Amino acid sequence: MRILSGIQSNGRLHLGNYYGAIRQFIELQHEGEALYFIANLHALTTVRDAAEARALIQETAVAFLALGLDPKKAILFRQSDIPEVLELYWILGTVVPMSHLERAHGFKDKTARGVSPDFGLFAYPVLMAADILVYGSDVVPVGRDQVQHLEFARDWATKFNVTFVRGYEPQDPQGREKGHAPGILKLPEARLQENTAVVPGIDGQKMSKSYGNSIEMFGDEREVKKRIMGIKTDSTPVDAPKPTGNALYQLLRVMAPPGELVELERSWTEGGKGYGEYKQKLLEYFHATFDAPRRRRDELLKDPAELERILEDGARRARGLAVPTIERVRKAVGLR
Ligand code: ADP
Ligand code: TRP
Repeated sequence: MRILSGIQSNGRLHLGNYYGAIRQFIELQHEGEALYFIANLHALTTVRDAAEARALIQETAVAFLALGLDPKKAILFRQSDIPEVLELYWILGTVVPMSHLERAHGFKDKTARGVSPDFGLFAYPVLMAADILVYGSDVVPVGRDQVQHLEFARDWATKFNVTFVRGYEPQDPQGREKGHAPGILKLPEARLQENTAVVPGIDGQKMSKSYGNSIEMFGDEREVKKRIMGIKTDSTPVDAPKPTGNALYQLLRVMAPPGELVELERSWTEGGKGYGEYKQKLLEYFHATFDAPRRRRDELLKDPAELERILEDGARRARGLAVPTIERVRKAVGLR
């Protein structure tokens, strides 16, 4: 099983990114051949400063490693180190209906907010499909917000195969029946992380770098504390049961060690503890979970040459998987 996912290097990573995505990526590295990349080409749609773009690529790669990605097992690389991706992106684009891109969430949201989108944002899902298809990925772990992109990737792979592979039958994509041919582009499956719902930010909305409500895994220690202490609560008295809808409770449930969950749920719904005490608890959980990765990160940052070596090795292994696909694609469409 080939597992692939990417994360944009467009901001500093927060708890939502970890519990909604990265943690699952790291667990999956033991279940198959895992490829994870820093989507630095996608990040160019929002990051417009070269020094910042570079720093964020390094930051994101280091975060993966510090949080437990093993570069000997999983393949960690920069999206832009694989030229085959950009070639497939163009070729695939020639079979992508404009109407699909017009109803893509990212594009629609921006248009609805009155922002005039540029071509990079419009074409974003095509590049993402090329990312997935060029490595012949079987499984793509993603958050709910990315499911539409996965459906596009499947649709366009099918359309490509129908158009360019003689004997390809969409109802038999692997070409098992007599007279049928398998596709060149394999259809990927999305793997949703169902049990981690959306992680709320300190204001109760979805945690997101763009809402200024996030808690960063590798943020300054005092800032982390300030943010945790600043989580929005209400005026429920200490003795009263607390409302389960609030952000503090959701965050505690995401971060508490499994052995403490039952007691936590009990005291929350019975009352007797104040919000301050719970915030203190959350801060403890934060340190218990991230202090070791934070130390590893400090170590990794001291050795940029080693990081570069890991990323180059990753790119070499990833290209090994991309080249055979692109060679077949070039032949199928008649470039070669
Ligand atoms: P942001 O909203 O901060 O811009 P991204 O859209 O770059 O984050 O998300 C990167 C990954 O992290 C995606 O797979 C997304 O599903 C996941 N993710 C981001 N925020 C959250 C959240 N609040 N809860 C759960 N998952 C999240
Ligand atoms: N669009 C994804 C996100 O914002 C990042 C991404 C780019 C990706 N290419 C991908 C994820 C391919 C999975 C597979 O989270």
